[in-house]
Amino acid sequence: MTRPLPIADVVHQRKTTKAFELGQGLTPEQSAAVREILRMSPSSTNAQPWHFFIATTDAGKRRVAAGASGNFSYNEPKIMNAAEVIVLCARTALDESYLQQVLDQETQDGRLANEEARINQHNVRKGYVQKHGATGNLLNWTARQVYIALGFLLLGAAEMGVDACPIEGFDDTAVDAELGLAAKGLKSVVLVALGHRSDADFNAALPKSRLAESLVITDL
Ligand SMILES: Cc1cc2nc3c(=O)[nH]c(=O)nc-3n(C[C@H](O)[C@H](O)[C@H](O)COP(=O)(O)O)c2cc1C
Repeated sequence: MTRPLPIADVVHQRKTTKAFELGQGLTPEQSAAVREILRMSPSSTNAQPWHFFIATTDAGKRRVAAGASGNFSYNEPKIMNAAEVIVLCARTALDESYLQQVLDQETQDGRLANEEARINQHNVRKGYVQKHGATGNLLNWTARQVYIALGFLLLGAAEMGVDACPIEGFDDTAVDAELGLAAKGLKSVVLVALGHRSDADFNAALPKSRLAESLVITDL
């Protein structure tokens, strides 16, 4: 994939990579950009209810591949041959100390002019957390935020000329156990393998397929 391309072209050019060339790494600048894309992703109320594990070594990728056995073994070579594999995790709880941490960061970053603004911001965010928590949907809500980071990452990687494979086909329970996520208040949601496609990537030669605009978009 070459760059730079207008974003309207990137969405046509990017394709899920089905096979990676082992040993083809990202440049240090690309690796740094991947981290920044994840960190800078937007989230509802700026709650940032996520954590990202990045495996760059064989040992690290092997740990992620704990979730790629049995029915999911078709994704194992993608994980092991990619340059970097990211485990995108959602927070299972947003307790008071975490909410205070986010609030303190916003204060430090100069977004909250005074104590009244601080209290208001805190209460709004807490209201969302309570609303979703009350119906037992907090993880559903935090996972939806994680998918925004996924979208940013897929588009950002493509723009940088990095090939990617989003992976929902993995045993999340196995990955959670391998990384000790429950004790960290986290749940694995989706993986992304990053690197450079190999000649075995059959998807590269296939045309993209999407439903017609008239079926998915309605003008009001
Ligand atoms: C959330 C998500 C999960 C996916 N999981 C897998 C997966 O486990 N294995 C795989 O080979 N492709 C996976 N895909 C790739 C999709 O099949 C692919 O995005 C879709 O067919 C559209 O093709 P394109 O990405 O080449 O445009 C996933 C895509 C998304 C967005």
